[in-house]
Amino acid sequence: MADDFLPIKGYDHVEYYVGNARQAAHFYDKTFGFTPVAKAGLETGVRDRASYVLAQGNIRLVLTTALTPDHEITRHCALHGDGVKAIGLRVADVGKSMAAVKQRGATVLKPATAMEDEHGQLVTGEILYAGDTVFRFVERENYRGAFAPGYAPLDVTNSTNAESPVGLASIDHIVTNVHLGKMNYWAQWYEDVLGFNNLAHFTDADISTEYSALMSKVMENGTGKCKFPINEPAEGKKKSQIEEYLDYYYGPGVQHVAMTTGNIYDTVMELRSRNIDFLRVPDTYYEMMRKRVGDVGEDWDRLQELGILIDKDDDGYLLQIFTQTTQDRPTLFYEVIERHGSRGFGIGNFKALFVSIEEEQARRGNL
Ligand code: FE2
Repeated sequence: MADDFLPIKGYDHVEYYVGNARQAAHFYDKTFGFTPVAKAGLETGVRDRASYVLAQGNIRLVLTTALTPDHEITRHCALHGDGVKAIGLRVADVGKSMAAVKQRGATVLKPATAMEDEHGQLVTGEILYAGDTVFRFVERENYRGAFAPGYAPLDVTNSTNAESPVGLASIDHIVTNVHLGKMNYWAQWYEDVLGFNNLAHFTDADISTEYSALMSKVMENGTGKCKFPINEPAEGKKKSQIEEYLDYYYGPGVQHVAMTTGNIYDTVMELRSRNIDFLRVPDTYYEMMRKRVGDVGEDWDRLQELGILIDKDDDGYLLQIFTQTTQDRPTLFYEVIERHGSRGFGIGNFKALFVSIEEEQARRGNL
């Protein structure tokens, strides 16, 4: 787009605030197959926190914990539990980007700030997003170090992830849950402040079961690199899964991170062997979808065996699967997605999936 004032190059990283970053890093390494590649902490001269950078494909996760009780990160974890703090977006010029979004009404938390070490210069800036979540702009064209100044590279030669890779390649989309009545507010915010477009809109008529419902709008940036669906709960007979999230996260925040793979069968088999639990899919789902989707060259028996979902639209089809929530609070979870032309989000799966999610909610006594 010629008038895109915020040309985003892609996702740079996702930073989590967690109660124990060392243990969280082990979890993401041994289960999801993210290799720890860099660390910041006491050993690198950082006195108040420890951060681990984990990498897989083009995806970078940063897991950060505080080392003291009276710390913003400690308070964040006490309130929200472990969760996504910052969505890092790569831009060519953080100074220009921050000036543009500020002029459009962004709440600036950290103005464009340059950090330097012997590997060059890294520039970041932050604005407030929903709840305590932030967007972080990152300019790393002139930085050649491990991740950022203050981080030291870790030895990756003993990592088993190279021998038995999970195969996650890139971030596809990141979904935020917001309170009832706030979806349109945040959709407008994406348009006004970030210059995003509304790619899709799902109403509670599309996404509902007998008991609960949600509404969703998908916002996409001008270069099409980043997609951010926003969910809000809709009225239902019982508690929506979005409300359950908001209750346990104590506010709006990131609900799931969707990551692409080139071979979802191999990825899911590897994740299952590493003890990742996925949402159960009702048997009736596959009977229904065989009729709805028809023959697209996929192996229906294998899809059913592995619990992989399928959806088709005018552009093509997609395969996807959702994990259970990955911490004790029923908040954040993950999606693995393999796209074959479809630019959608599995709308045809939402209903079947909700039946499954509600079974899990009922098991937690939250339906
Ligand atoms: Fe998704």
